[in-house]
Amino acid sequence: MLIAVLNGPNLNLLGEREPDVYGRRTLADIEHLMQAQAVELGVTLEWLQTNHEGEFVDQVQRLRGRADGAIVNAAGLTHSSVALRDALVGSGLPFVEVHLSNIFAREEFRRHSLLADVAVAVVAGLGHRGYVCALAALVARLRDD
Ligand code: DQA
Repeated sequence: MLIAVLNGPNLNLLGEREPDVYGRRTLADIEHLMQAQAVELGVTLEWLQTNHEGEFVDQVQRLRGRADGAIVNAAGLTHSSVALRDALVGSGLPFVEVHLSNIFAREEFRRHSLLADVAVAVVAGLGHRGYVCALAALVARLRDD
């Protein structure tokens, strides 16, 4: 089973960027944690990060017919990108939307996600653990289905 983990703009700066909001772990730390989890779960992860909306759309399109599911932290694009929503819907990929912070307890503009209603589930506010929970739950769900 191939699961893509897609990370959007500015997540390359995790660890340095607003650590009180996003935690002290780097994206590489989270990737190492999840690669170990993937081995335990018996799945393969494809790890991606981009700061560019068009590249994000390209990445989603390239997953069509290859990946079984995705974990998506679209970062700021969550709140603005119709193109990314369309790409995810068009890909047919079941995905879990993840946010390190609780977007529903932050500024008004972050409380709305353009992805949430087309996601399998949304995990927000659990920091790096949210990625781990999302992967375990998505794989379990895909195996049950
Ligand atoms: C984020 C929340 C977004 O609102 C923000 O733009 C991010 C990170 C999160 O993981 O909490 O860049 O997706």
